[in-house]
Amino acid sequence: MNILIINGPNLNLLGKREKKIYGDQSFDDYFSLLQSKYPKANLNYFQSNSESEIIDKIHEVGFDIDGIIINAGAFTHTSVAIRDAIAGVTSTVIEVHISNVHARESFRHKSYLSAVCKGVIAGFGLDSYRLAVEHYLSI
Ligand code: DQA
Repeated sequence: MNILIINGPNLNLLGKREKKIYGDQSFDDYFSLLQSKYPKANLNYFQSNSESEIIDKIHEVGFDIDGIIINAGAFTHTSVAIRDAIAGVTSTVIEVHISNVHARESFRHKSYLSAVCKGVIAGFGLDSYRLAVEHYLSI
């Protein structure tokens, strides 16, 4: 099983950024734990603050890989282009969020991505990513 986690803008600051919302663990530290917990998942990780790089990565892997787990950060709420990239590939994509976006500002309630993803996991902290991995391993 090959799974790629794609993190969008500002998620490189996890552990430093708005800790009350996103926690104090860096994604690198969390990702190492996730890899050691799921050695059979062949987990890889890509982060970019650039919309075009995220789209290029979806195109690059999206016809071969078993699963993509995407936290597009703020692009979730703005990007028709990332939505179209997800719709255009054949790999299954799960949308994740660390925070419960529906309990936050109203501009975070709309996701352009959800309708073209298999499902959405939000509000479980970094554990949202693990829950998505569990789904891929269960199918
Ligand atoms: C986020 C929620 C988004 O609204 C926000 O812009 C982020 C992180 C989350 O994981 O909770 O950058 O996707």
